[in-house]
Amino acid sequence: MLHIRPAVPSDLDFVVAGNLALAQESENLTLDQTVLREGVRALLEARAPGAYWIAELDGTAVGQTLITYEWSDWRNRMVWWIQSVYVSPGARQHGVFRGIHAHLRGAAAAAGAGGLRLYVDTTNVRAQQVYAALGMNGDHYRVFEDMF
Ligand SMILES: CC(C)(COP(=O)(O)OP(=O)(O)OC[C@H]1O[C@@H](n2cnc3c(N)ncnc32)[C@H](O)[C@@H]1OP(=O)(O)O)[C@@H](O)C(=O)NCCC(=O)NCCS
Repeated sequence: MLHIRPAVPSDLDFVVAGNLALAQESENLTLDQTVLREGVRALLEARAPGAYWIAELDGTAVGQTLITYEWSDWRNRMVWWIQSVYVSPGARQHGVFRGIHAHLRGAAAAAGAGGLRLYVDTTNVRAQQVYAALGMNGDHYRVFEDMF
């Protein structure tokens, strides 16, 4: 049975491992583990504005997603951003992310948010197909960045 729950501080190792695997698999990037660990810890200890969610399949953690928040003046509401999406390879194509998405969509609506958004690497075709299958629109915006 699939269960979606808020992450707690003891999920630190699981979430860090998921992000290392995600960056390697989807962008061929090796993240700085020290920086990543502190970045995740800040969220799990509620010192940064965002929240991790954990997906458990029959009691075992198999997936993670980070939600961050962006104020939309056009909507006079918060928009929830989906980030750091990762499902363990052995648990894929069993509806785990479908369950995460449905849960967060419901939570965002209940919180009065204006909707859900995410960005995805242009080469990550599989994830793009998954998001489209869940009814998300990928045709509207492109993301431009100037990272320091
Ligand atoms: C992208 C990812 C999160 C999808 O998770 P998942 O739990 O396997 O997805 P689901 O099983 O919930 O699939 C949801 C829907 O997407 C579609 N889908 C699933 N896998 C797919 C695939 N490999 N190709 C195309 N469509 C797919 C299906 O329509 C599915 O609906 P269905 O189960 O009713 O058929 C997972 O593959 C993953 O962790 N990939 C590596 C990390 C990554 O790329 N993260 C995204 C960064 S932006």
